[in-house]
Amino acid sequence: RRKIAILTSGGDAPGMNAAVRGVVRAAISRGCDAYAVHEGYQGLVDGGNMIKRMGWDDVQGYLSTGGTVIGTARCKAFRERPGRLQAAKNLVKEGIDALVVCGGDGSLTGADLFRAEWPSLLQELVETEELTEEETEPFAHLNIVGLVGSIDNDMASTDITIGATTCLHRICESIDSISSTASSHSRAFVVEVMGRHCGWLALMAGIATGADFIFIPERPPSGDDWQDNMCAEIKRHRDLGKRKTIVIVSEGAIDNNLKPISSKDMMDLLTDRLHLDTRMTILGHVQRGGKPCVFDRNLATMQGVEAVEAVLASGPDVPSPMIGMNENTISRTDLMKAVALTGDVAKAIARKDFVGAMDLRDPAFNQ
Ligand code: F6P
Repeated sequence: RRKIAILTSGGDAPGMNAAVRGVVRAAISRGCDAYAVHEGYQGLVDGGNMIKRMGWDDVQGYLSTGGTVIGTARCKAFRERPGRLQAAKNLVKEGIDALVVCGGDGSLTGADLFRAEWPSLLQELVETEELTEEETEPFAHLNIVGLVGSIDNDMASTDITIGATTCLHRICESIDSISSTASSHSRAFVVEVMGRHCGWLALMAGIATGADFIFIPERPPSGDDWQDNMCAEIKRHRDLGKRKTIVIVSEGAIDNNLKPISSKDMMDLLTDRLHLDTRMTILGHVQRGGKPCVFDRNLATMQGVEAVEAVLASGPDVPSPMIGMNENTISRTDLMKAVALTGDVAKAIARKDFVGAMDLRDPAFNQ
């Protein structure tokens, strides 16, 4: 009887609970035992009652609940080998040899490292007499499956990540609210949104709310006169009769010298150059919390079920899969290739080799 555990790691994302529910119920209906590891990797390191057997009813109400009920953490201990050693011991003691991790690229990289180290961790646990050979023998291989939970939509090899769509709705609702007060006073607003090094949230929100200007990390404004160009564009909109100005700044946005774009500087620019009555709103964690939208509930549910199928199909020679969505279909891709490609995108941005207009599926991109 397979024992499958799920944990959520890194920043919470709306829909993570639906993923936990999907894994738990799919595991039980396929005749497996389901476990939830509380507080992310910290729960694996701590063991004991942080690893809880889950029944069908334990995930009732999870579909519509925001955040992650089983908790998450950015765990330092798991980044070091002694922490992973402790985690391996706890899993063997519980009889668990399959782990579904729902988190961002950092969390998923940690998961695959854990899988790669697994045999040597078990060997060390036997050598130090923490476990016996009989105890470790049935657990020769650790199955890892990645589910991408991140509001940033910043993982390669999947079109969308769990939580990003809800977050985008939240941002657009906020900008709609800001727009009505902006129009009333004929004001300008600089709105800063999350996304870390990825501009997807800012770009999509800008399109959906008809923003005047958008700053994203992938495509810094070009030329030394970009501030003049921005002001000219905003003035043109005003001359056409627009009573509001919305500038969206992705928190990771950079200028043409790779320096961070500051929302405060943009506010001062609009005030000083265009004499607009300008305010700044940093949306913050309101973007990340709250109920998941329908898309995220269903995406996470389908991916949770697929994660269990992937566990049951896996073996020592099958690379750890990442469950994604490509062209509206739930997909399985190679987790480490997806993580590596995500790193390539970050490097391309740092090289000013802007990827905003590139199709990441284009093989030329990887050369
Ligand atoms: O990765 C998700 C995210 O919300 C980013 O958009 C943001 O930069 C970061 O996490 C904030 O992290 P914290 O919640 O630890 O402040």
